[in-house]
Amino acid sequence: MKIIIVNDARDVGVKAAELVVKEVIKKKNLVLGLATGGTVIPFYRSLVGLVKNKKIDFSYIRSFNLDEYVGLNKKDKRSFYYFMNKNFFSKVSIWMRNVYFLNGMAKNLDVECKEYEEGINNIGGIDLQILGIGRDGHIGFNEPGSSLKSKTREVLLSDITRKDNVKFFSGEIKKVPKRALTMGISTIFGAKKIILLACGEGKAEIVHRFLHGEISEEVPASFLRRHKDFIVILDKEAASELKN
Ligand code: F6R
Repeated sequence: MKIIIVNDARDVGVKAAELVVKEVIKKKNLVLGLATGGTVIPFYRSLVGLVKNKKIDFSYIRSFNLDEYVGLNKKDKRSFYYFMNKNFFSKVSIWMRNVYFLNGMAKNLDVECKEYEEGINNIGGIDLQILGIGRDGHIGFNEPGSSLKSKTREVLLSDITRKDNVKFFSGEIKKVPKRALTMGISTIFGAKKIILLACGEGKAEIVHRFLHGEISEEVPASFLRRHKDFIVILDKEAASELKN
């Protein structure tokens, strides 16, 4: 495990984008695992900038997003698909046929999840997974209690997670979906390389816990400490409790 501490949220994004570009230069058709949320906005901004300035060819990239809310369609501004399209897909020359996304509107959610998992396996697994972390230690939407063996599935969101995401639902908690589809911990753990980003004071406590506490289902991100190629990029605020 490698921990990189940089100045602020913007620099977290820049550092992560540089690492992604390095991997894409090594392997043109890299399979990327992607995340949404506030933390990764500067990351996508930097990545788009680097791809354009350095003329990095993204046309062969394949991508799988981590999660999606149940009951929101792609065109819904609050869906993760919409977020990704706005912040990334529409800004780089990625082929949309190589973009894989969980469909939270699928008739049979179990089949949807099973096929997504198979899709990842059939492509040869994820080369590089980008993650944020929830204040409760979730990765993807694997909330506390998620098993290391968990695969892509439907989950219930915790109260903390719903509260944290209310900002994307015009402040109305009632509107935040209660259920989501997410890659499992074992799906995430199967990635060859994992980069987790965390920014801000609000993440300082969980960053300390997942890096120094017990490795357990109570803090799903803690499992990642056992991964052989795991990089954590933090800003100073998120790293502020690490010295204690
Ligand atoms: C989103 C996801 C979540 C977020 C996490 C942090 O695709 O998988 O695990 O990464 O909730 O969200 P922010 O960055 O908004 O604090």
